[in-house]
Amino acid sequence: MQELSGKTAVITGAASGIGLAMAHRFGDAGMNLVLGDVESDALDIATTELSDAGHEVAAMQLDVRDLDGIRAFEAFARESFGNVHVLCNNAGVGAGGPVSDPDNLDLWKWTIDINLWGVIYGCKVFMTGMLEHGEEAHIVNTASMAGHLSAPMMGPYNISKYGVVALSETMAKEALMMGTKIGVSVLCPAFVATGIATSDRNLPENIKAAHGRDAPDEASSGTQSAIEQLVAAGIPAADVAEAVHHAVVNDEFWILTHDDAKAAVTERARQIVDGVNPPLTGFV
Ligand SMILES: NC(=O)c1ccc[n+]([C@@H]2O[C@H](COP(=O)([O-])OP(=O)(O)OC[C@H]3O[C@@H](n4cnc5c(N)ncnc54)[C@H](O)[C@@H]3O)[C@@H](O)[C@H]2O)c1
Repeated sequence: MQELSGKTAVITGAASGIGLAMAHRFGDAGMNLVLGDVESDALDIATTELSDAGHEVAAMQLDVRDLDGIRAFEAFARESFGNVHVLCNNAGVGAGGPVSDPDNLDLWKWTIDINLWGVIYGCKVFMTGMLEHGEEAHIVNTASMAGHLSAPMMGPYNISKYGVVALSETMAKEALMMGTKIGVSVLCPAFVATGIATSDRNLPENIKAAHGRDAPDEASSGTQSAIEQLVAAGIPAADVAEAVHHAVVNDEFWILTHDDAKAAVTERARQIVDGVNPPLTGFV
């Protein structure tokens, strides 16, 4: 989809991090922007920032776990700017916990509902309008290197991101099979300096309380600060947004933003075909 100017991009999780950076990049390309995010205050700030930068912006508070909310968001996008051409299903949260813990199902469900079901809902709801208008369109689904490599203690996150990779590959093949004009990309970064390490800010209060996340002990505070440091050392979100823009313009499916992580993907594929059991290495 080479010409973006005057067309419309819809971005979920647009109030922070990668989503906000994508909004800036697509705005710079002359696109109208439709932003969705669960955090209304941050969304207001992002909207002002993007408007001040000279972009055409419409924003709506949205919880991507809510199918009716996504339908209303799609209608809002069309009412704001007409046909939607680029959709970035990007809203996501980071949460983990061991598979062996029988009491963290609520955390698992929250993560998978946002990271996977939110993306499924977005694709299903927006594709209908894209097929109807028949113009060139492109969907970018945010997965992660966690959609290729299975780090321990990150079960729900890994599952959600593998799901997003599988969904996106399926969509790309169906687009070929059906001859549609909807391009597909899947974004798979390793660490990016964003707010992901503090995803708990959006955790429902009852789940927070059930897991002591409202009053963390010394051990969990230590783990939290280690995660925050890893994320803070990640690449800038603007670099990821640049790669996403490049992929949309050049119709590239895979967006792997971290060259140093690619060897682990190759190694995992080799282990699968060679029948090597999963080692405690090879994740980022
Ligand atoms: N930062 C990284 O290291 C990294 C690496 C790989 C993939 N990702 C993925 O990138 C995406 C964006 O995350 P980020 O790193 O920019 O983090 P971020 O926390 O800065 O931004 C995520 C945004 O999603 C919003 N959000 C959370 N739950 C929502 C919901 N239910 N409905 C709507 N919006 C919701 C948040 O309010 C926030 O604005 C996520 O899907 C994440 O999994 C991030």
